[in-house]
Amino acid sequence: MTEAVFDRRALLAATGLMSLASALPAAAQPAAPVAFSPQPLPFDPKGVPGLSEKLLTSHHDNNYASAVKRLGSIRADIGKLDFATAPNFAINGLKREELIAWNSMILHELYFAGLAAPAAPSAGLAQAIERDFGGHDRWAGEFSAMGKALGGGSGWVLLTYSRHDGRLVNTWASDHTQTLADGAPILALDMYEHAYAMDYGAKAAGYVDAFMKAMTWAEANRRFATATHA
Ligand SMILES: [Fe+2]
Repeated sequence: MTEAVFDRRALLAATGLMSLASALPAAAQPAAPVAFSPQPLPFDPKGVPGLSEKLLTSHHDNNYASAVKRLGSIRADIGKLDFATAPNFAINGLKREELIAWNSMILHELYFAGLAAPAAPSAGLAQAIERDFGGHDRWAGEFSAMGKALGGGSGWVLLTYSRHDGRLVNTWASDHTQTLADGAPILALDMYEHAYAMDYGAKAAGYVDAFMKAMTWAEANRRFATATHA
């Protein structure tokens, strides 16, 4: 029995709560690790205008699926790590790679969802875009320009709802880890070269224009409603 447990039991006995203490589990056990598995594409990759089946399938099967599998491996290694004795570089490395892979999975699922079921912005989301950007066209111009500005590099453009400020904002990311703290991303544009090079070569602007024509709002509507409790 550890000193901490002894002290806790002594305190509970002194306060007449020993019967309650005996009903508690001896020691809390961590929940079983979450099993990560790649989700299928939420649309027919043959039917997205401007983005080929070969590109979308490669993006899903290679980049997205490998991030999900990598996350599972990293989480397994973290589960085996003795944090009391592990060197700082091991802790830092695993937790950094966990965040990279985890956000890559999340953002890719959001990206693909934005190419799924056709839908217009909900009334609430359309009003928020009008309020926070001055209209749909101004939002689209900013979002598109940010994507093109990342051409030749890599990263994400994210339409994000800031819970802190209660407003929508387009946020910039040069890698998977850069997201607005307390933000809820509702639409994602992948600007890594693997998202377009197969179809557009180095012409990132052509890919951004194709994405802006192909993207839909069903998932954004759902996430906006959740983020705002609408
Ligand atoms: Fe990607």
